[in-house]
Amino acid sequence: MKAIIPVAGVGTRLRPHTFSHPKVLLNVAGKPIIGHIMDKLIDAGIDEAIVIVGYLGNMVEEWLRKNYSIRFTFVNQSERLGLAHALWMCKPHVKKDEPLFIILGDTIFDVDLQAVLKSPVSSLGVHEVKDPRRFGVAVTENGKILKLVEKPDEPVSNLAIVGLYFLLHSEGLFSSIDHIIENEMKTKGEYQLTDALQLMIEQGEIFTTFAVEGWYDCGKPETLLSTNKTLLLENQPGTKQYPGCIINDPVFIAKNASVENAIIGPNATIGEHAVVSDAIIRDSIIGNDARVSHIMIDHSIVGNNASISGNPHEINIGDYSEIRVR
Ligand code: UTP
Repeated sequence: MKAIIPVAGVGTRLRPHTFSHPKVLLNVAGKPIIGHIMDKLIDAGIDEAIVIVGYLGNMVEEWLRKNYSIRFTFVNQSERLGLAHALWMCKPHVKKDEPLFIILGDTIFDVDLQAVLKSPVSSLGVHEVKDPRRFGVAVTENGKILKLVEKPDEPVSNLAIVGLYFLLHSEGLFSSIDHIIENEMKTKGEYQLTDALQLMIEQGEIFTTFAVEGWYDCGKPETLLSTNKTLLLENQPGTKQYPGCIINDPVFIAKNASVENAIIGPNATIGEHAVVSDAIIRDSIIGNDARVSHIMIDHSIVGNNASISGNPHEINIGDYSEIRVR
């Protein structure tokens, strides 16, 4: 089956890291966000992917082609007009009425995908949240979706739609998107997938939900770091010992990173060829080729090739950087 992965977004909430790297290539627990997603898709039998690229799309294409051998089609969304518009661009590459699995490129998940892909009806991934006001939610009755509500003011449902969509009939999706684009039906300035799905429901398509217990958002610095922690805890990679260092698992240290006289972890990812010396690093992600020395780092993200040493009294930081001295 084919998966569609939209990754055209700019990732503004993850600046400054997304100035030079697309969000989906940011490292979390030892591999890029999209690497975690691809591994799960391939495990579940997905053998073809349409990837909707835009901002820094060449980097995404190059990384995926280098690391995976399934069949890829890259579709360029040059104008970022919303998720429904992004999917609409895939229409020429999808066979009439074939089923589709759509997954947002910044959503790492843990779910029995094989079971989802066998569903006899269309089905949306949901996660129970305490405060649904930030999400699109599904209002259900006896397991069937009655309607979808974007960011509800009233507590109509706490089943948030979290970025995984199994659609049995691609034709219905594309004709709904045609309709919202032809009639310029934008919500918050964008052509929304939720609006297209709501139209499908109104036209009689049956939708159920599937529970996504493991749902790891990577869209903001704090969620990227909490996802890093959760994934490290789940996949404890059995860290080797480094002379003169204390390693507090869970951590991921790239094989070719150099770590000397340091305390690493818990919940730290150290990227490829990074050099860490005389430092304490916990709850943080250190990028590839970064250099960190004579400093304690906590709840931090250090970009690729960045360098930080000593107490941060004298610093040279880019636009949108964030420093918290505690
Ligand atoms: P987000 O709303 O999280 O956008 O889109 P973003 O650009 O990645 O991040 P921010 O909001 O600027 O920080 C969710 C997913 O949908 C894709 C994004 O790439 C992301 O994977 N998307 C969204 C598109 O591919 N095209 C669109 O027009 C909108």
